[in-house]
Amino acid sequence: MLSDKIKHEIEHEAAMFERRSGACIDALRIVQRERGWVDDQSVKDVAALLEMTPDEVDSVATFYNLILRRPVGRHVIRICTSVSCWLMGLEPMLAHLEKTLGIGLGQTTADGRFTLIPNQCLGTCDHAPAFMIDDDLHRDLDPEKLDAILANYK
Ligand code: FES
Repeated sequence: MLSDKIKHEIEHEAAMFERRSGACIDALRIVQRERGWVDDQSVKDVAALLEMTPDEVDSVATFYNLILRRPVGRHVIRICTSVSCWLMGLEPMLAHLEKTLGIGLGQTTADGRFTLIPNQCLGTCDHAPAFMIDDDLHRDLDPEKLDAILANYK
C-alpha cells in the first residue's frame, strides 16, 4: 500500500498532465525513491491512482531500465557496458568490481550493501569508463579508484 506521502507526491505530478497516465514514470520514480524498487502491489496501486491498468503501468516500468522491478541492495551500481567504456577498460574494472564485491552482474552482495547491474551508455563517453552508484556519476574509472569510491557507500 502506498503511503500518504507517496500518494500526495503522485497526485502533485498527475495534476500537471492532461491525462493522469502522463505521470506514470514520475510515479514509479517516486515509489522507487522511497522503497528502493517497485513491487507488484505498488504497480497495482499506481495503476489505480493514475486510472491505468496494472499491465500498462508494468509495461512502462519494465521498458525503462532505471525502474527496478526486483529487490536491490542499499546501493545500486549501474556499470556502463557500452562501446566507449568497453574500449577504455571496462573488462578489468568489472573484474575488479566483481572480485571485490563477490558478485556478478545482476546480483546483490550477501550483506545487502550493493547490487551490480549493467547499463547502456551513461552519456559520458569522453570520460569512460563510467558507472553510477545510486544517483552519483563516477567517471574516468580504473580498478585503483574503485575501492576508494565504494568505501563512501555504507
Ligand atoms: S559508453 Fe559508457 S558512458 Fe558512453
